[in-house]
Amino acid sequence: MESSRIFIVGSGVVGAATGEGFLAAGHKVTFIDISAPRVAELAARGLDVRTEIDLSGEPESLIFLTLPTPNDGHRYDLSAFSAGTASVGKALAGSPVRHTVVVRSTVPPGTTEGLVKTTLEENSGMVANEGFGLASNPEFLRAVSAAEDFANPWMTIIASRDPQNVERLRELLSPFGGELRTFSDPAEAEFIKCAHNIFNATKISFWNEMWLVAQKLGLDLDPIAATVARSAEGSINPEYGIRGGAPYGGVCLPKDTQGFLGFADTVGVDMPLLSAVVEVNDRLAEIVDHEIDTADIAERAADHAQLRAAAHGDKELQEAQSE
Ligand SMILES: NC(=O)c1ccc[n+]([C@@H]2O[C@H](COP(=O)([O-])OP(=O)(O)OC[C@H]3O[C@@H](n4cnc5c(N)ncnc54)[C@H](O)[C@@H]3O)[C@@H](O)[C@H]2O)c1
Repeated sequence: MESSRIFIVGSGVVGAATGEGFLAAGHKVTFIDISAPRVAELAARGLDVRTEIDLSGEPESLIFLTLPTPNDGHRYDLSAFSAGTASVGKALAGSPVRHTVVVRSTVPPGTTEGLVKTTLEENSGMVANEGFGLASNPEFLRAVSAAEDFANPWMTIIASRDPQNVERLRELLSPFGGELRTFSDPAEAEFIKCAHNIFNATKISFWNEMWLVAQKLGLDLDPIAATVARSAEGSINPEYGIRGGAPYGGVCLPKDTQGFLGFADTVGVDMPLLSAVVEVNDRLAEIVDHEIDTADIAERAADHAQLRAAAHGDKELQEAQSE
């Protein structure tokens, strides 16, 4: 594995952290970027950086796509991503060896086996997973701590229809540590990355909406939120509430979501996120034939009390519960 070159196509925040992380682990890395200032910056750091990918005479390599995928209103703008993918497809054309293209950018589900596969096949004249390997390996790093996050991943996702690609990436990435999960459908990996970001965004907006109400009441939200972070099942139990097609029921959640909406209104705060929570639940309750009682969820949670103890770092309680 150490002898294969790794190409990083799109050498911005993610590309640089990825490539420099592989370099530090002893791999040969070549950075590709179309931006002249970015190329000069990376060259000044002593990196092997080029403006175009050239695979002629190159033995089997791994090509990571870390190209930009910004949004344009309510859609992903995949034009730069698509152009970069096409350049890789052209470079693959005529190559006698099997290179593996890995989508590391955040893309909407279906992109790897849709746009990427089609673009690579059209530009290379080859068939995916025959002439070249195709896989998805979304990046979870945070921009503020990109290098450290790359070097110490807490979750690595690899997906490909071809188990050979999965194994190749497992061999490359498992030495970095953390949990590693594999999937055969790249759309699952792409969905994981999108849901990961959207979940974080939703949690942040939830507490910002609560902050607006607390402000009106003259309350400091910080100790309130810090306490709920340790008391709410949804916060301390990772299995809670993650089953799809299962709206909440019982007494407390329907009562308090609806009651609080009216309460917030009396203090002059509009709560669009809480309104949407109620609306989504009502809609789901109409399309599925049963509701989940929150008491059932607590019961179903595997070793619930132990999870709670784990969340509080209470080793003694954990040990007592597992006896
Ligand atoms: N920034 C983050 O914290 C972060 C974290 C995880 C995932 N991501 C995802 O990773 C991807 C890359 O994000 P980023 O923040 O590194 O973007 P970025 O804008 O920092 O870097 C993208 C780089 O690609 C280059 N580029 C554009 N078109 C190119 C082409 N045709 N060929 C070669 N290079 C080209 C640009 O010049 C730029 O240097 C996105 O999908 C993003 O959503 C970002």
